[in-house]
Amino acid sequence: MAIPRESSPPAPRTGPRIRLDVGTFVWILTVAAAASLFLPRAAWVATDTSWQFAFIVLTILSIALEFVAVELPQGGIVSVATIGHIATILLVPPPFAAISVGSAVLVEEVVHRRPLQRIAFNTSCHVLTISLASFVVGVIGDPSVLVQERAQLQLVVMVVAITLVYHLVNDLLTDAVMALATGRPLIYLIRANGRSTLFAEAGAAMLGVLFALIWLVEPLWTTLLTIPAAVIARAFQYIRQLERETRSAVATMAQVVDDRDTTTFHHSERVAHYAVTLAVELELDQELIELIGQAAAVHDLGKIGVPDRVLLKPGPLTADEQMTMWLHTEIGARILRQFHLFRSGAEIVLHHHEAFDGSGYPNGLSGEAIPLGARVVAVADAFDAMTSDRPYRVALSVAETMERFEVGSGTQWDPVVVAAMLTLLRDGRLTVDPHAPEDHAPDHGHDHDQGHGPDDDDDHGHDHDHRPAARPAIGHDQGTAA
Ligand SMILES: [Fe+2]
Repeated sequence: MAIPRESSPPAPRTGPRIRLDVGTFVWILTVAAAASLFLPRAAWVATDTSWQFAFIVLTILSIALEFVAVELPQGGIVSVATIGHIATILLVPPPFAAISVGSAVLVEEVVHRRPLQRIAFNTSCHVLTISLASFVVGVIGDPSVLVQERAQLQLVVMVVAITLVYHLVNDLLTDAVMALATGRPLIYLIRANGRSTLFAEAGAAMLGVLFALIWLVEPLWTTLLTIPAAVIARAFQYIRQLERETRSAVATMAQVVDDRDTTTFHHSERVAHYAVTLAVELELDQELIELIGQAAAVHDLGKIGVPDRVLLKPGPLTADEQMTMWLHTEIGARILRQFHLFRSGAEIVLHHHEAFDGSGYPNGLSGEAIPLGARVVAVADAFDAMTSDRPYRVALSVAETMERFEVGSGTQWDPVVVAAMLTLLRDGRLTVDPHAPEDHAPDHGHDHDQGHGPDDDDDHGHDHDHRPAARPAIGHDQGTAA
């Protein structure tokens, strides 16, 4: 799986945008799909009736597979119907291939009582996709003849071409309708949706090719494919289960930390919510958004290794205690690195207290050297700290929070992330999470871990959470922590 980008978020979009409403788009698509059934057929015409058996079997198979969706390890769902679709493209001539797949999709959509517009979109999308793929097959040749003649090169070209056409047309149309429905830029959706399932989709397509090749030798042998297919599906299921268990085990550990310190009740949950909202606003890749959400939910996991006398200490920390508190980023990262699933998240956890100007901890990284996810979590973490009650002050108002973000932009936090936060707050698209901690009246403790944290008020005045003097700590008077 591709490693999520850890660079800067994309620049704001400029330039004119074409507005087209979803309804019109679906109607145009429906007309195009109907017209595609009459595409010219270059080399492959249904002259004999040998394909009819394949048509019946594959239509039934496609309908059955429409109801199966395999959850992939590391997220995403792959529709195994692709297997039936690709086999149909190779075994059934146009326009019957498109009719077979179109009716399978239609049956599934109607059974699930989808809205009319969605039924029209999904059916038309598949009819058009299959018609175009069938057209490509027609240009290259009749697959059964190519197999008989052992025309390997043409077969390879055909397989690659139809797989590409199938996925590109299908994905592009789906992304286009999503772009129209959500107002998000098409290019963002293409990038966000195209990655995680690519490998699995290609695998399903190759199973379809295999089905077609076996069918051409002897249709009965295709039943053997159900065995490896079942084994793969079972393996996916086990991996998913393992991942769910790992995730919940780590989340439970993080919960234990939250519960230990009643001043920060539900803190991790809220930070995860804010971080994901920010990541979406920054238009990051879907994978990175998920990674940020997961890392944010466990960002203070390392506090599990910080003794109560330090974590819950009501007064200022001694230098030694402060060093112990700072260790929570490294402890958290060390624990998370043990889990394959959380390895990339461990870097976010390790660096969530770095400051944009290099005055944070544990490594004093600055600017883009700090993983993007960590820069996002830092802003989300600060927002929660500022908008939560503390023993030494009540929660700040959103307006006060915004002022502090403005002051700390470029020094404490990444200015791009801060700008996104300010936009969200200004538009009212991010509000203080209802899981407010008021009902857990704090009676002790401070956010000892917040490196020159924005929640440390002037009147509070403790310096215990600043970096060692060796690094140029930003004082309260410089505003970021004020
Ligand atoms: Fe922390």
